[in-house]
Amino acid sequence: MSSYENYTQTSAVYDHTRVPIGLEIITAALSSGSANRDQQILLDAGCGTGIYAFALVDRVHRVEAIDLNRSMLSVARTKMRSAAEHGRIGFTLGSIAQLPLKTQSVNGVMINQVLHHLPDQAGHGWPLHHQVLKECARVLQPGGVLIINSCTHEQLEKGFWFYELIPNARTTVMRKIIPEKALDALICGVGLTLNDRLVDLDSVLQGESYFDAEAVLDYAWRKGDSIWALASNHELQTALAQVADLAAKNQLQSFMQRYDADRPALGQTSFSIAIKN
Ligand SMILES: C[S@@+](CC[C@H](N)C(=O)[O-])C[C@H]1O[C@@H](n2cnc3c(N)ncnc32)[C@H](O)[C@@H]1O
Repeated sequence: MSSYENYTQTSAVYDHTRVPIGLEIITAALSSGSANRDQQILLDAGCGTGIYAFALVDRVHRVEAIDLNRSMLSVARTKMRSAAEHGRIGFTLGSIAQLPLKTQSVNGVMINQVLHHLPDQAGHGWPLHHQVLKECARVLQPGGVLIINSCTHEQLEKGFWFYELIPNARTTVMRKIIPEKALDALICGVGLTLNDRLVDLDSVLQGESYFDAEAVLDYAWRKGDSIWALASNHELQTALAQVADLAAKNQLQSFMQRYDADRPALGQTSFSIAIKN
């Protein structure tokens, strides 16, 4: 379960804005694995509503989609009923910290925007992250590929223009995101070799709606980024008042452009790609 977002509520509107990004990066990473991609079994760990599984299910032999939230998983299941009937995807309610899969049973694992939801303890060496990575290493076949899609601290600072409206929430989410060096050390420690770190510079997590500045005022739009769950009511109300005020003064577009200036060169999320030794 996420340590802060209510995904049971969010499941109803998550797909209004969220789009899968970095699909070519993921596909190329899978192709670099030891098995032919069209024969691969791909684990979507923390699949949510299945936006990545849906986009990739036809590029591999089968997807195993796992999520801890029943409502998110139910949206995914509805979306891919036909693929499930044809045996191309399976859905399991469960935790990625205790994968309900046999040892060495998959060729690829992708973890898209999930790790920061673990109720982990940075000060104690990120034990839950370690447990999740250990599980991923266990279920991967030798030569299999792990792909972790997660924001860096720099991307959180400069890759999302509206985070400027909720600086305290940004500070809080940064504490939940494992720094790259710590992630690299954990990856190595579970018997994987980090091969690459790549960024999709052309895409953003909320698609075209990211550029619709007034959409900040819309609850469903805000549900497309769990950072809003980390804003106190006071911070949220202040942010909404600021947006309304900027819009009334015709300054909202320039605000967005100012705080989006670095994002095109930084991207919003990074893909760490590791191989099972
Ligand atoms: C931001 S959503 C990402 C969903 C999907 N991967 C995507 O990129 O659209 C985070 C998801 O992680 C799931 N999650 C959080 N902790 C989990 C855990 N320990 N095991 C399985 N799923 C988990 C949540 O239920 C939620 O569906």
